[in-house]
Amino acid sequence: MPAIAGRNPAGTVRPNGGSTPHKRKLRSDTSPMLGSPIDSPTICKSPRKHVSASPNNNPANGTEKDSIELQMKLHKLPTRRLEDSFSAKSKWDPNDIEQMRAVKEALHVSVSPSTIVCREDEQKRVLEFCKVCIEQEKAGSLYVCGCPGTGKSLSMDKVKELLVDWASKEGFHQPDVLSINCTSITNTSDIFGKILGRNQQLKKKNGSISSLQHLQSMYSQKTSLSSLNMTLIIADELDYLITKDRAVLHDLFMLTTLPFSRCILIGIANAIDLADRFLPRLKSLNCKPIVVTFRAYSKDQILRILQERLSEFPFTVFQQQALELCARKVAAASGDMRKALCVCRSAIEMLEAETVESSIYSNSLSEETAFVEQMPAPGNMKKQETDVVRIDHMAVALSKTYRSSVVDTIQSLPHHQQILLCSAVKLFRGGKKDTTLGELNKSYTDICKSVLVPPAGILELSSMCRVLNDQGLLKLGQSRDDKLRRVQLKVDEADVTFALQGIRFFRNCLQ
Ligand SMILES: Nc1ncnc2c1ncn2[C@@H]1O[C@H](COP(=O)(O)OP(=O)(O)O)[C@@H](O)[C@H]1O
Ligand SMILES: [Mg+2]
Repeated sequence: MPAIAGRNPAGTVRPNGGSTPHKRKLRSDTSPMLGSPIDSPTICKSPRKHVSASPNNNPANGTEKDSIELQMKLHKLPTRRLEDSFSAKSKWDPNDIEQMRAVKEALHVSVSPSTIVCREDEQKRVLEFCKVCIEQEKAGSLYVCGCPGTGKSLSMDKVKELLVDWASKEGFHQPDVLSINCTSITNTSDIFGKILGRNQQLKKKNGSISSLQHLQSMYSQKTSLSSLNMTLIIADELDYLITKDRAVLHDLFMLTTLPFSRCILIGIANAIDLADRFLPRLKSLNCKPIVVTFRAYSKDQILRILQERLSEFPFTVFQQQALELCARKVAAASGDMRKALCVCRSAIEMLEAETVESSIYSNSLSEETAFVEQMPAPGNMKKQETDVVRIDHMAVALSKTYRSSVVDTIQSLPHHQQILLCSAVKLFRGGKKDTTLGELNKSYTDICKSVLVPPAGILELSSMCRVLNDQGLLKLGQSRDDKLRRVQLKVDEADVTFALQGIRFFRNCLQ
């Protein structure tokens, strides 16, 4: 393992590296849509982030640990319990408050999933690194980076659990574990106080020296403390420790290079360029943390994660196409899983609102029995469609989060051009690559008739196609005969659906 520090004494012993951070952004917890009650930077947002103490029993942290465990149980229990009770009723019913609550909870960003998929490799790399450190009793450092919502914090929590289990199974001394969310640190150098304060035996004897100096001197010479347990430090949201001279970051990583250091440091950062800015200097000081990059999730990964999170239910809540639309859009925009989850929750809330609305409607109908006998009951007629989260719910939920310029353009087109685009979408659905203007005209006229709108004539249609060609939405070829000009759709079908699905008229056009 290249980055495990040898016991070579390394340079800098800084009296006190503390200063005010000049950058306070890129916090990965920023929920894109939901106003979470646990949103404040000083309060942990997820139950995982509350795990700030070692899994080992530590009397000093007893109450905190109890409350952490209680919170974790609270966040894990309901789905398990409901899962059992759901197996009896395998049908999804959006009117069932308990089912609705459980599904929303399973999709909540702050609820840890029971299985983490798509991050096996990254977890393995980090776990193997930590295992080697423990086996060889060597300090070391590792730097995890990636955009927000790529599963860094979640995966490191998992690694922490796996490592502690492994150590106890293999008979190694269990490492002390210290998880620090750097957003909760007021003064950047306080991190050293946290590391020092971790172990009662290390408490300052001499009040005049800084925590950093204390740690540096302790890890530089052999003392009775050198036989202490290894300490796994997981410093999340490392971006918050950036100071102008990046001294705190350097000092933190350099602790792992001191000859008697007992630290396994995992620094987690959202800024992908942070490594370029601070690693070269560390390298020159002979500290080379392993870098593990969490790439943005792809469409398939987002889909798989969503399906995995929903797999605990014995019923289908989302139309497959709806999940796919969400995964495709989120992957194209940022690959941020937090956003995907928020969009899904927002879509399910739309179904919920629709269900409530339709039951109010049915109730009012049943009161007017005379009418019920005469009219078809819309509630019954649409039963199949209204049960699950559909693509149109998802499209609206997505549009609240993302508005691409293509989507904006489509939404601001005149009505007939929008109908024309819908006709093109329908025409190209079967995998066809291009068509003629004559054929497009036929499809357009059919749609207009089906929605009772008088169609524009062929000349007007031809000029509409030119406009859409200029906007980059269609590609119009050349031909002497207008009707034989070839037409291609230049936008994703999903963009058109996404832009227009919110309007019932266009939903009908696209059916
Ligand atoms: N592989 C995954 N499986 C299940 N849920 C995931 C996965 N990756 C991310 N998530 C969900 O997305 C949210 C954001 O993940 P997190 O680890 O906090 O991202 P990061 O630390 O990279 O900003 C979490 O709440 C988690 O529930
Ligand atoms: Mg994080």
